[in-house]
Amino acid sequence: MASARPKRSYTVRSSATHGRGAFATRTIRKGARIIEYRGARSSWDVASERPLSDPADPYHTLLFELSDGTVIDAGLRGNAARWINHGCQPNCEAIEYDDGRVFIHARRTIRAGEELAYDYRLSFVGPITRKAREALTCRCGAKRCRGTLLLKVPAKTKRRARQS
Ligand SMILES: C[S@@+](CC[C@H](N)C(=O)[O-])C[C@H]1O[C@@H](n2cnc3c(N)ncnc32)[C@H](O)[C@@H]1O
Ligand SMILES: [Zn+2]
Repeated sequence: MASARPKRSYTVRSSATHGRGAFATRTIRKGARIIEYRGARSSWDVASERPLSDPADPYHTLLFELSDGTVIDAGLRGNAARWINHGCQPNCEAIEYDDGRVFIHARRTIRAGEELAYDYRLSFVGPITRKAREALTCRCGAKRCRGTLLLKVPAKTKRRARQS
Protein backbone atom coordinates (compact mmCIF):
# COMPACT_ATOMS: atom_id res chain seq x y z
CA MET A 1 0.00 0.00 0.00
CA ALA A 2 1.33 3.45 -0.89
CA SER A 3 2.27 5.69 2.03
CA ALA A 4 -0.05 8.64 2.68
CA ARG A 5 2.94 10.77 3.69
CA PRO A 6 3.90 13.24 0.93
CA LYS A 7 7.46 12.87 -0.37
CA ARG A 8 9.86 15.55 0.86
CA SER A 9 10.14 18.31 -1.70
CA TYR A 10 13.87 18.93 -1.13
CA THR A 11 17.17 17.16 -0.67
CA VAL A 12 20.38 18.31 1.00
CA ARG A 13 23.67 18.31 -0.89
CA SER A 14 26.76 20.34 -1.57
CA SER A 15 26.06 23.91 -2.72
CA ALA A 16 28.02 26.32 -4.91
CA THR A 17 26.87 29.13 -2.60
CA HIS A 18 28.25 27.67 0.62
CA GLY A 19 28.82 24.25 2.23
CA ARG A 20 25.67 22.22 1.93
CA GLY A 21 22.32 23.54 0.74
CA ALA A 22 18.75 22.34 0.18
CA PHE A 23 17.53 21.71 -3.36
CA ALA A 24 14.03 21.15 -4.72
CA THR A 25 13.38 17.56 -5.84
CA ARG A 26 10.15 18.48 -7.65
CA THR A 27 8.11 21.51 -8.56
CA ILE A 28 7.11 23.46 -5.46
CA ARG A 29 4.16 25.77 -5.94
CA LYS A 30 4.19 29.43 -4.89
CA GLY A 31 3.06 29.76 -1.26
CA ALA A 32 3.72 26.10 -0.39
CA ARG A 33 5.01 25.41 3.11
CA ILE A 34 8.30 23.56 2.70
CA ILE A 35 9.76 22.97 6.15
CA GLU A 36 9.68 24.31 9.71
CA TYR A 37 12.84 26.00 11.06
CA ARG A 38 13.35 23.89 14.18
CA GLY A 39 15.80 24.03 17.04
CA ALA A 40 16.26 24.83 20.69
CA ARG A 41 14.58 28.06 21.84
CA SER A 42 16.24 30.44 24.24
CA SER A 43 17.27 34.05 24.72
CA TRP A 44 20.03 35.45 22.50
CA ASP A 45 22.41 35.51 25.46
CA VAL A 46 21.90 31.81 26.26
CA ALA A 47 22.27 30.80 22.58
CA SER A 48 25.48 32.78 22.18
CA GLU A 49 27.05 30.94 25.15
CA ARG A 50 26.96 27.68 23.15
CA PRO A 51 30.01 26.48 21.24
CA LEU A 52 30.43 27.91 17.72
CA SER A 53 28.53 26.02 15.00
CA ASP A 54 31.71 26.10 12.86
CA PRO A 55 34.89 26.80 14.83
CA ALA A 56 36.69 27.57 11.55
CA ASP A 57 34.20 30.38 10.85
CA PRO A 58 33.11 32.34 13.93
CA TYR A 59 30.45 34.16 11.85
CA HIS A 60 28.74 30.95 10.70
CA THR A 61 25.25 31.07 12.19
CA LEU A 62 22.40 28.65 12.79
CA LEU A 63 20.42 31.13 14.88
CA PHE A 64 17.05 32.51 13.80
CA GLU A 65 15.76 35.47 15.80
CA LEU A 66 12.02 35.91 16.31
CA SER A 67 10.18 39.22 16.61
CA ASP A 68 10.09 38.95 20.42
CA GLY A 69 13.87 38.40 20.62
CA THR A 70 13.66 34.63 21.21
CA VAL A 71 16.26 32.70 19.24
CA ILE A 72 15.84 29.32 17.51
CA ASP A 73 19.18 27.49 17.46
CA ALA A 74 19.13 24.88 14.69
CA GLY A 75 22.47 23.59 15.98
CA LEU A 76 20.56 21.98 18.85
CA ARG A 77 17.58 19.74 17.97
CA GLY A 78 17.48 21.37 14.53
CA ASN A 79 16.24 19.83 11.28
CA ALA A 80 17.15 20.10 7.58
CA ALA A 81 16.08 23.78 7.49
CA ARG A 82 19.52 24.48 8.93
CA TRP A 83 20.98 23.75 5.48
CA ILE A 84 19.02 26.39 3.58
CA ASN A 85 21.36 29.14 2.43
CA HIS A 86 20.71 32.88 2.19
CA GLY A 87 19.72 34.52 -1.09
CA CYS A 88 19.33 38.23 -1.92
CA GLN A 89 16.60 37.55 -4.54
CA PRO A 90 15.37 34.32 -2.96
CA ASN A 91 12.76 31.79 -4.03
CA CYS A 92 11.64 31.23 -0.41
CA GLU A 93 10.75 33.28 2.62
CA ALA A 94 10.77 32.55 6.34
CA ILE A 95 7.40 33.31 7.92
CA GLU A 96 6.94 33.64 11.67
CA TYR A 97 3.50 32.38 12.67
CA ASP A 98 1.46 33.86 15.52
CA ASP A 99 2.43 30.93 17.77
CA GLY A 100 6.15 31.71 17.27
CA ARG A 101 6.88 28.80 14.91
CA VAL A 102 8.79 29.62 11.74
CA PHE A 103 8.13 27.97 8.38
CA ILE A 104 9.94 28.31 5.08
CA HIS A 105 7.51 28.99 2.24
CA ALA A 106 7.98 29.25 -1.52
CA ARG A 107 7.83 32.89 -2.74
CA ARG A 108 7.34 31.70 -6.30
CA THR A 109 7.09 28.44 -8.22
CA ILE A 110 10.35 26.55 -7.73
CA ARG A 111 11.50 23.95 -10.24
CA ALA A 112 13.25 20.65 -9.44
CA GLY A 113 16.99 21.15 -9.01
CA GLU A 114 16.81 24.81 -7.89
CA GLU A 115 18.54 25.61 -4.63
CA LEU A 116 16.19 26.87 -1.92
CA ALA A 117 17.13 30.19 -0.34
CA TYR A 118 15.57 32.88 1.79
CA ASP A 119 16.77 36.31 2.88
CA TYR A 120 18.40 35.92 6.31
CA ARG A 121 18.09 39.69 6.99
CA LEU A 122 20.90 39.34 9.51
CA SER A 123 21.71 42.18 11.85
CA PHE A 124 25.03 43.07 13.39
CA VAL A 125 25.19 44.98 16.63
CA GLY A 126 27.81 47.70 16.99
CA PRO A 127 30.57 48.83 14.66
CA ILE A 128 31.73 46.16 12.26
CA THR A 129 35.31 45.08 11.70
CA ARG A 130 36.77 44.37 8.27
CA LYS A 131 37.14 40.70 9.25
CA ALA A 132 33.44 40.42 10.13
CA ARG A 133 32.39 42.23 6.94
CA GLU A 134 34.46 39.84 4.86
CA ALA A 135 33.15 36.76 6.69
CA LEU A 136 29.58 37.94 6.07
CA THR A 137 30.08 38.41 2.30
CA CYS A 138 27.18 36.98 0.31
CA ARG A 139 27.90 34.51 -2.48
CA CYS A 140 24.30 33.92 -3.60
CA GLY A 141 25.11 34.89 -7.19
CA ALA A 142 21.88 36.88 -7.70
CA LYS A 143 21.95 39.73 -10.23
CA ARG A 144 21.14 42.19 -7.49
CA CYS A 145 23.14 40.52 -4.72
CA ARG A 146 23.61 42.93 -1.75
CA GLY A 147 27.09 41.51 -1.32
CA THR A 148 26.41 40.77 2.34
CA LEU A 149 24.30 38.45 4.47
CA LEU A 150 23.38 41.50 6.55
CA LEU A 151 20.26 43.53 5.93
CA LYS A 152 22.21 46.70 6.59
CA VAL A 153 25.95 46.98 6.94
CA PRO A 154 26.82 49.05 10.02
CA ALA A 155 29.47 51.73 9.96
CA LYS A 156 33.08 50.57 9.99
CA THR A 157 35.14 50.60 13.14
CA LYS A 158 36.73 54.04 13.18
CA ARG A 159 40.51 54.19 13.09
CA ARG A 160 41.87 56.69 15.48
CA ALA A 161 43.71 59.60 13.89
CA ARG A 162 47.44 59.25 14.37
CA GLN A 163 48.88 61.64 16.90
CA SER A 164 52.29 63.06 16.34
C1 LIG B 1 22.08 28.07 8.32
S1 LIG B 1 23.71 27.83 7.65
C2 LIG B 1 23.34 27.30 6.03
C3 LIG B 1 24.02 25.99 5.68
C4 LIG B 1 25.47 26.13 5.31
N1 LIG B 1 25.61 26.16 3.86
C5 LIG B 1 26.30 25.02 5.88
O1 LIG B 1 26.84 24.18 5.13
O2 LIG B 1 26.43 24.96 7.12
C6 LIG B 1 24.18 29.53 7.52
C7 LIG B 1 25.59 29.79 7.15
O3 LIG B 1 25.87 29.38 5.81
C8 LIG B 1 26.67 30.35 5.15
N2 LIG B 1 25.90 30.96 4.05
C9 LIG B 1 24.58 30.84 3.85
N3 LIG B 1 24.19 31.54 2.77
C10 LIG B 1 25.29 32.11 2.26
C11 LIG B 1 25.53 32.99 1.17
N4 LIG B 1 24.57 33.40 0.37
N5 LIG B 1 26.81 33.40 0.95
C12 LIG B 1 27.82 33.01 1.76
N6 LIG B 1 27.66 32.18 2.82
C13 LIG B 1 26.39 31.73 3.08
C14 LIG B 1 27.09 31.37 6.19
O4 LIG B 1 28.29 30.96 6.79
C15 LIG B 1 25.94 31.27 7.20
O5 LIG B 1 26.32 31.69 8.48
ZN1 LIG C 1 23.53 37.79 -2.23
